[in-house]
Amino acid sequence: MSHYRRWPYPRVLAHRGGGALAPENTVAAIRVGRAHGFHGIEFDAMLAADDVPVLMHDDRLERTTSGRGEVAAHTAAQLAALDAGTWHSRAFAGEPVPTFEAAVRECRAHGTWINIEIKPAPGAAERTGDAVARATARLYADLIRAGGDAPAQIEPRVPLFSSFEWKALAAARAAAPDVPRGFLFDRVPPDWRDELDALGCASLHTNHRHLSRELAVAIKDAGYWLFCYTVDDPARAGELLAWGVDAYCTDRIDLIQPDAWSPDE
Ligand code: G3P
Ligand code: MG
Repeated sequence: MSHYRRWPYPRVLAHRGGGALAPENTVAAIRVGRAHGFHGIEFDAMLAADDVPVLMHDDRLERTTSGRGEVAAHTAAQLAALDAGTWHSRAFAGEPVPTFEAAVRECRAHGTWINIEIKPAPGAAERTGDAVARATARLYADLIRAGGDAPAQIEPRVPLFSSFEWKALAAARAAAPDVPRGFLFDRVPPDWRDELDALGCASLHTNHRHLSRELAVAIKDAGYWLFCYTVDDPARAGELLAWGVDAYCTDRIDLIQPDAWSPDE
């Protein structure tokens, strides 16, 4: 699905909602990102035990919450009762693990665009892709249009899915075919073009540390959007944009400025 339309979304996203300034993947983080002027964010969506999507990066609770054990062993209600803020700083004490729906509603209420990273726990790729896509289709039903995953048909307020997991993206495509997709790689593999085409992806997302200028040019010449994570040095951000990278996310929302963006441009 190669194309040559320009990236229609914000070019600088707050990683995990509010970068390093707030506890990742919380509603508080989304508010901090917004308060710093970010029109777009990236966050991670995982399934709770009752198949409710929640915002979470790790498949275990210890690093970012007051809980213990596997995320997938806890219901969304149990996760909501945990403290997902104190690990970051006392100012965020008591901040809950949000449901995906609560996070999306917070974003939609304020016009914040989302790159939804589908982040399955081990063995749950298809279920997670399916559940996140179904929830997205329901929460954006007023904006999603037939064929909307094709770059020429993109509605810039509708989120972009991304995932490292092939099965998650395939399930998302089956459940919400009109929501665009990006394939996420740490290191871009030699057969990247086949992988993107097989999933009908509009974009390629990758770790900027392993990206070369030559590879960036090849991806752009092939007509795909190119997104980098996680760029925390303004000089490096400038270099990547000069290579043709369309957009990136950052943890340093205190250091890197958001871009001016409007979905109506
Ligand atoms: O989606 C970009 C980036 O978030 C991927 O890595 O581990 O921070 O989710 P990670
Ligand atoms: Mg992520």
